Amino acid sequence: MVAPLKRRAELNPVKVGLLGLGTVGCGTVDVLSRNAEEIARRAGRGIRVTTAAARDTGRRRPCDTSGLVITNDPFRVVDDHGVQIVVELIGGSDLALELVLRAIDNGKHVVTANKALIARHGNEIFARAREKGVMVAFEAAVAGGIPIIKAIREGLAGNTIHWLAGIINGTGNFILTGMRDKGRDFGEVLGEAQRLGYAEADPTFDVEGIDAAHKLTILASIAFGIPLQFERVYTEGITNITPDDVAYAGELGYRIKHLGIARRREDGIELRVHPTLIPQRRLIANVDGVMNAVLVNADAVGPTLYYGAGAGADPTASAVVADLVDVVRVLTSDPENRVPHLAFQPDAISDLPILGMEDVETAYYLRLRAKDRPGVLAEVTRILGDLQISIEAIIQKEPERGAPDATIIMLTYRVIERRMNAAIGRIEDLDSITRPVERIRLETLG
Ligand code: HSE
Repeated sequence: MVAPLKRRAELNPVKVGLLGLGTVGCGTVDVLSRNAEEIARRAGRGIRVTTAAARDTGRRRPCDTSGLVITNDPFRVVDDHGVQIVVELIGGSDLALELVLRAIDNGKHVVTANKALIARHGNEIFARAREKGVMVAFEAAVAGGIPIIKAIREGLAGNTIHWLAGIINGTGNFILTGMRDKGRDFGEVLGEAQRLGYAEADPTFDVEGIDAAHKLTILASIAFGIPLQFERVYTEGITNITPDDVAYAGELGYRIKHLGIARRREDGIELRVHPTLIPQRRLIANVDGVMNAVLVNADAVGPTLYYGAGAGADPTASAVVADLVDVVRVLTSDPENRVPHLAFQPDAISDLPILGMEDVETAYYLRLRAKDRPGVLAEVTRILGDLQISIEAIIQKEPERGAPDATIIMLTYRVIERRMNAAIGRIEDLDSITRPVERIRLETLG
């Protein structure tokens, strides 16, 4: 007989221990309790948080923690015999790694939202989890509430994935959007993102692209079946983007987005995070504010776009709880027959190399400052022509009143970065060029 719905959540619930009771921890407690019956209908059993570790056990929290044993010793949670699944939400790499490995050694399944942990130590964690026959689920580590891991790992399992490009840091997107819409400067918008709680503990992780590089590492691994290789990601932040660049890009029909791009080529894989001009007619160019989106181009399905909240208590908890449900559903299944952690069978991981940035092929936006005199443009275009770099558009801005220099904006067609570096070097050597050339890469994402 089917148990009445009201009681299903209480029937032999799976016991969960939380590491961290901050924004996402409280969100997880909230979602589990708010949707207890729906979750139990899906998982087949209830899921109950029994214990949690928090730095400050006495703090008032925005969630109902009655019934939870709260400790300030996280090792008590991972060593708790009653706990079957440990949810790691403390962030960072060192302590989190120690706790997660100990939980695995204790035979517990792990759910984590920690992108730095998975990107940097995932290969070791998954190997240990396989030895112990436990699951490590990490949907919340990439793009918050968007089920992008599941979409790529399971939904697109029939495809060869060509490339993916994502806005995978909400703080960076919030800043670029604020600069474009309100003409505000970088620092001002960053301050607002911090006040709203989107930014990482160290906001340089957001604005320098490190957070996005962690997430891209994970996406590339499950898209292409390669090991996690965070140290091989080319990473460039958004701190050099000026309101002028944002405006010039707009005049040319583009928006500047901070993208993580992973592209499979015959000779290797491009793995890069940098500001990127993209045509404003693309859907992903219109993903604004703190929202995230990932565009995946695969052979059978073509392009698919995944959009949603990339941070915040409830959206991230949505991903954590989905992982909990997944783990509960397979608790009794044969470990050999589960979905592999990194989508591909461990003995089928490819050793395709990650290409150096000089070998990447992309188009460019160039901003030059030049003396306003005859022949300058001809000198610049000759250098580009000599290096077989084709120009797609040029605009020249008159010098501002009293200023000696003119600004020249150029868009080029695709070229190998090594050749563009050579061109920029030669252009900067020209006597008529008065400042270093600013370059922003451009992708049509077609
Ligand atoms: N700091 C991150 C962001 C939070 O801004 O996207 C979610 O990983």
